[in-house]
Amino acid sequence: MTTKLSFPDGFVWGTATAAYQIEGAWQADGKGESIWDRFTHTPGKIIDGSTGDVACDHYHRWREDIALMRDLGLRAYRFSISWPRILPTGRGMINQAGLDFYHNLVDGLLEAGITPFVTLYHWDLPQTLQDTGGWPARSTAQAFVEYADIVSSALGDRVKHWITINEPWCVSFLSHQMGEHAPGWQDWPAALAASHHVLLAHGWAVPVLRRNSPGAEVGITLNFTSAYPASPSYADREATRSVDGYINRWFLDPLYGRRYPADMVADYRAAGHLGPEGMTMVQDGDLQAIATPTDFLGVNYYTRAVVRDEAAPDNLPPTVLTAPREEWTEMDWEIFPQGFYDLLCRLHFEYQVPKLYVTENGASYSDGPNAEGQIADERRIDYLRDHLAAAQRAIQAGAPLAGYFVWSLMDNFEWARGYRQRFGIVWTDYATQQRIPKQSAVWYKEVIAENGLIVGA
Ligand code: FCB
Repeated sequence: MTTKLSFPDGFVWGTATAAYQIEGAWQADGKGESIWDRFTHTPGKIIDGSTGDVACDHYHRWREDIALMRDLGLRAYRFSISWPRILPTGRGMINQAGLDFYHNLVDGLLEAGITPFVTLYHWDLPQTLQDTGGWPARSTAQAFVEYADIVSSALGDRVKHWITINEPWCVSFLSHQMGEHAPGWQDWPAALAASHHVLLAHGWAVPVLRRNSPGAEVGITLNFTSAYPASPSYADREATRSVDGYINRWFLDPLYGRRYPADMVADYRAAGHLGPEGMTMVQDGDLQAIATPTDFLGVNYYTRAVVRDEAAPDNLPPTVLTAPREEWTEMDWEIFPQGFYDLLCRLHFEYQVPKLYVTENGASYSDGPNAEGQIADERRIDYLRDHLAAAQRAIQAGAPLAGYFVWSLMDNFEWARGYRQRFGIVWTDYATQQRIPKQSAVWYKEVIAENGLIVGA
């Protein structure tokens, strides 16, 4: 017996990528240096010593990549714009060749019947703006608005879906406090200032995008990790509150008009992460700007965290993985579709988000071509199927989910993890730049054609 899990009419089916992860051509046609160019060219930062200098060479192969997407039946494509391609020094002088690349890409997508979803910032800050303080400096938020104005004036007649920032948590904490991503700092106060300026950049850009792109939908994409206590103890529940506050609520609350979560502000003050004056980077009017209503929230979901108190007597780490080995992907992220359901319902019931798009969801598995050249990535299919089933259940429960983008269209440069992690539904052969659709791509094409999932034996 099989059952069909249908999605609403008009549901948007797509895949996602980001400029630095696929474009390559890091110095082509007047492009400026980004913080990711600088970071990957610094020895020791990337696990396999690789860079995005060439990546998938999409900058030169975008026509074939659009043809591939059309063959897969994709209805939408989420990609990001490289800020230093447009503004090589971050502000001021515009590089027309950079804009032309995106003009052509957008026109090509529309001709192929694929709706472009454009992310303005997916982490490749112009290096010159890093040199003037980067995200910990308020001036970077102003520079972002100028950049958003230029891009939306150029493309806003054809692009009707805008995502301001991808994953503010990664931009601020992963990059400035943990030091894993560019610019690689380990500085709590800088990370907290960065988090505020990234949200401010978003809030300031929303009216600019609306003005330049009439009728467009504007939103922001956050990364979420659903957090669950490892035990019902008070200490573990308290630790879970803190992880949830750090990753999820720190961004959600101010965006939805609730200001920064007071419990987290108190914790950061107590830990000395904020100066004695507290949140001094927040100026009059900032919280209103950040809470400017948007049309949708972009949701990136991969995994959950099981949290225990650091001071627990058995000395286990604060987040623990409980599932057996086969329930982790190669990123060491636990597969937990229930966390996806819980998250989508939470955003609906607790935050009353008007509209949701899943802007990223997917799995890293290195399965490659067999002797016949076919790629049997059943584990990726299982991951996607189980997460889509969870999303469909969330829709039944009322979550206003309007679309879903698989991360990623093709294997690409996975940031600090280099080329070893493969998230694509299309295989990238980096030696030849050949693209080979994996079994998951063929499966996804069917899901799109059916506007739903066939489940059961
Ligand atoms: C997200 C990023 C995306 C990709 C996936 C695996 O955090 O937005 O670029 O690297 O993780």
